[in-house]
Amino acid sequence: MSHFDNADRQSLRGFLNMVRNRFPDEYLQISGRIETLYQSTSIVFELERAGRSPVVMFDDIGGKGMPCVTNVAASRKLLAACLDVAEQDLPTVFRDRSQRYLPCETVDEAPWNDIVLEGDDVDLTRLPIPHQFTVDAAPYITAGQITARDPKTGVDTTGFHRLMLKGKNRLGVSLHSRRRMHEFHRRAEEMGQSLPAAITIGVHPLHYMGSMTYAYPPHVRKFEIIGGLFGEPYRLARCGVQDLEVPAGAEIIIEGEILADVREPEGPFGEFTGYASYRSTQNVFVAHRIRMRRDAMFHSVVAGMAKDHILISCITREGEILNALKRNIPNVKAVHVPHSTCGAFMAVISLKKIAEGEPQMAAMAALSTELYTKYVIVVDDDVDIFDMNDVFWAIATRVRAEKDIFFVPGCKGAILDPSSDPENFTLTKMGIDATRPTGRDFAERLVISDEERAKAREILERAGVRL
Ligand SMILES: Cc1cc2nc3c(=O)[nH]c(=O)nc-3n(C[C@H](O)[C@H](O)[C@H](O)COP(=O)(O)O)c2cc1C
Repeated sequence: MSHFDNADRQSLRGFLNMVRNRFPDEYLQISGRIETLYQSTSIVFELERAGRSPVVMFDDIGGKGMPCVTNVAASRKLLAACLDVAEQDLPTVFRDRSQRYLPCETVDEAPWNDIVLEGDDVDLTRLPIPHQFTVDAAPYITAGQITARDPKTGVDTTGFHRLMLKGKNRLGVSLHSRRRMHEFHRRAEEMGQSLPAAITIGVHPLHYMGSMTYAYPPHVRKFEIIGGLFGEPYRLARCGVQDLEVPAGAEIIIEGEILADVREPEGPFGEFTGYASYRSTQNVFVAHRIRMRRDAMFHSVVAGMAKDHILISCITREGEILNALKRNIPNVKAVHVPHSTCGAFMAVISLKKIAEGEPQMAAMAALSTELYTKYVIVVDDDVDIFDMNDVFWAIATRVRAEKDIFFVPGCKGAILDPSSDPENFTLTKMGIDATRPTGRDFAERLVISDEERAKAREILERAGVRL
């Protein structure tokens, strides 16, 4: 039986099936042996340079006897197909569905119970873990979803955290995004305990997407958000860590704990900022058991500024910021978080401005949704926020620097942002109002009507010009 027969719709296999059947040009299989050192990453970056973002299946990385799939989340087209929507609707549909929390379904059987490795048999070095950049301190598991429960409330969370291979059963982990997992570990440590946790490898891109949500009530499980994205209860099964539940359709489960009061060097690692990251919370995960499918495949997210690492951050942030803004400012039209700002640090807001002061209100609300968003540009709705040339034109022609730019010093910033203070990670946030003034005349924008454009195209076509 192949990897793809009888694939559960909610699994990575189900996604790969969909791609192979509906978008065969977006699936690339590399059969020959490649090395674990750098090669999978450089191959995907070469494809990106050529404007291509296929899912890439490597049959053999470093002779480990297990295939490795990568670049699973690098294409808006494929992510839109997962939600069955048009590409331009991704952020809004994500925002709507991620608020339809659906209770999970717990099932008894999970294929990752095929093989169970314990004691001396636990050996993470046998997995085909790519070593992605020359700066990286070691091979890194980059598609490991860590699940743990809040030691106080029992509510669980799931999210990607980079995992540095340190030995057969030891991984370095950095919880620098300082969201739930960081807080759960801090609470456990306060109680003098390690945090029981499980790492899930090989999940559907909608799990990837749902795990990146950050603005939701504390009693909600991320698995319920992921269920909302699937439009049906997410199927989970108990693994062997206390009563932790993990996705039933996954490929590999690594059970263990994040140690209390242990810090060890972790990194450097080639991060989404486009820089080698030396900053880390320096935590340690110790593995006690590995479960996997008989024909398990490994999954790796291409690191650095690869689309695989950043595109979902762009989409989920666009949805989250839009969600926060719409509650107070109904005339906000859309939000763009550009890839070139690491899918994190800048947001552009399209506003149908009714009154002065609204852009400042929108900028402040967006800046305070989370620590990563540090620059916000607000433009009128005649500007195409997905075309940065148009955004720069609005800044160049509508901003009066002394009035329209404001700073908020001393804000909590991202640890991995190289411009944040090396001691306490604070930085100055900035809002730019690039909208026209209301209530008085402003320069008239030059436009060429759709009708004129159609006529121009006709004439050019007759002249043999193909556009
Ligand atoms: C591929 C990938 C790798 C990530 N690595 C880390 C990481 O090493 N540490 C971290 O704190 N956040 C990392 N993040 C961001 C978190 O996954 C994200 O903030 C998530 O919402 C955290 O979940 P939590 O609330 O359960 O902590 C990564 C995100 C992606 C997409």
